[in-house]
Amino acid sequence: MEGAASAAPFFFFAMPERAPPSLSHLVDALLIAADEALRSLSGAATAARPSPRAADDGPASPEDRTVSARLMRVNHTGEICAQALYSGQALLARRPEVRAALQRAASEERDHLAWCRDRLGQLGARASLLDPLWYAGSFGMGLASGLAGDRWSLGFLAETEDQVEHHLEGHLHRLPADDRSSRAILAQMRDDEGRHGAAGRALGGAELPAPVKAAMRIASRVMTGTAYWV
Ligand SMILES: [Fe+2]
Ligand SMILES: [Fe+2]
Repeated sequence: MEGAASAAPFFFFAMPERAPPSLSHLVDALLIAADEALRSLSGAATAARPSPRAADDGPASPEDRTVSARLMRVNHTGEICAQALYSGQALLARRPEVRAALQRAASEERDHLAWCRDRLGQLGARASLLDPLWYAGSFGMGLASGLAGDRWSLGFLAETEDQVEHHLEGHLHRLPADDRSSRAILAQMRDDEGRHGAAGRALGGAELPAPVKAAMRIASRVMTGTAYWV
């Protein structure tokens, strides 16, 4: 059950319930959010776990390498979005255990981001030029779902992770047969996303209305469609 702080406005973010927000707390939180954005977008984010990639050079044919690079660019952009979403949500989480769970998941998402970036480099490809835009939009969505309260924020997280898991299943089938490294990375990511979604539900995440889920799928399709090419 969420307390009175559930209905608190933006500036009550990340504060103990009913504690008055201080200016230094606000400045600290915004600086941390800005630091997270810069690390994500600059490629400075580092992984805590070693990449699950195999010891291969990737697809033998140039055409297949191009397909792998495009798919991994999409997944890298997806992880940029995940960093932004979690950052916005953690900023506004009410319950300390919810914030801790968001930060734990965000740490695994940082691994995903670093693994995808690393794999993009191996395939001789660059990240999407639109990543800053996607980060900004996803951060806004994270703040909006955080504002709605922990139950909705966790429900949004669980639905996002379900959709990402489904998307990764699709990419595992689309990857060229001899791209063992990208496949190993996506398989580990899919398993992690499944756990993140389950954790969101276990903490009390609400089931989102069908139109919201449909809107999320459309936004995700726009992201994956553009990141494949740009
Ligand atoms: Fe992820
Ligand atoms: Fe996740």
